[in-house]
Amino acid sequence: MKPKILVTRATFDDVIGKLRERFEVDDNQKDDTPLVGEEMKRRLADKDGVLSTGSDRFDAAIVEAAPRLKAVCNVAVGYNNIDLAACSERGILATNTPEVLDDTTADTTWALIMAAGRRITEAERWLRAGNWIQGWKYDRLLGQDVHHATLGIIGMGRIGQAIARRAKGFSMRILYHNRTRATKAVEKELSAKYVSLAKLLKESDFVSLNLPYSKEAHHLIGAKELALMKPTAVLVNAARGGIVDDAALVQALKEKRIAAAGLDVFEGEPKFNPGLLELDNAALIPHIGSATRATRMKMNLLAVKNLAAALAGKRPPNLLNPEAWAKRRR
Ligand code: DGY
Repeated sequence: MKPKILVTRATFDDVIGKLRERFEVDDNQKDDTPLVGEEMKRRLADKDGVLSTGSDRFDAAIVEAAPRLKAVCNVAVGYNNIDLAACSERGILATNTPEVLDDTTADTTWALIMAAGRRITEAERWLRAGNWIQGWKYDRLLGQDVHHATLGIIGMGRIGQAIARRAKGFSMRILYHNRTRATKAVEKELSAKYVSLAKLLKESDFVSLNLPYSKEAHHLIGAKELALMKPTAVLVNAARGGIVDDAALVQALKEKRIAAAGLDVFEGEPKFNPGLLELDNAALIPHIGSATRATRMKMNLLAVKNLAAALAGKRPPNLLNPEAWAKRRR
């Protein structure tokens, strides 16, 4: 008998095909409706494993309702959707998909730096609205220079580093803040200077958030932090909703206390603060940081590898909770 798995959201047919070779698959290819509450519990009740996305919630109540569950394998590097303690308690292995999306997410962050800094999305809206009647104008849609500016990176993990690497091509000065200081070799390679959060916010022309969401990171950037930033500064968040206090950000953008923001992620997405839609100085995209075919395929295949290992009784390559593994081995 093949192990039974749930694939919570639609994915590439090739991935489903691969999964069917090993597992009895309950998929969501037709509707792709997010599974929540009772429906998620019902679908998980007889499953051994699940291929999940970062927007599926695996809290204690959901995990409790899945007596056979042995593995929750996210197709995402982020895993704040999974209650790791609840999983470990039950010996359920949780995994993510690091590394394969670093460069793509760094590219997206750069698209937001450029879009928000140089008012690209705003300019396109302006053009499409039929406003371009007079020709070239000396002060039309003036933005912030990116080249030779200071980039502040909060969260200098793999994605932060990939962003810094790209910034060198723009001759930027790089400041960073991280829970732990990067190695001397990394600092040297990226010409990056470690500074306090306050110094980074005060001195940067562009601030990029590249840290995982956690209780500690909740509203790391709120009214107080935004007040430290330059009036010409641009904030970019392609990390996770909730790291920025979006209500405070809307206020700061409205009052032009900072110049602009570029956002790929939002508090409570897919819902978000409606005030953002009224702001020309916000470049908004719908959580597409890792969205290229090649990268999404790599993420899926890595998650499949994790799931296959976990359900074969092997330690998955991207295990997040070694406590669960230890429990299973006892
Ligand atoms: C991740 O990998 O965590 C992304 O945010 C989901 O695409």
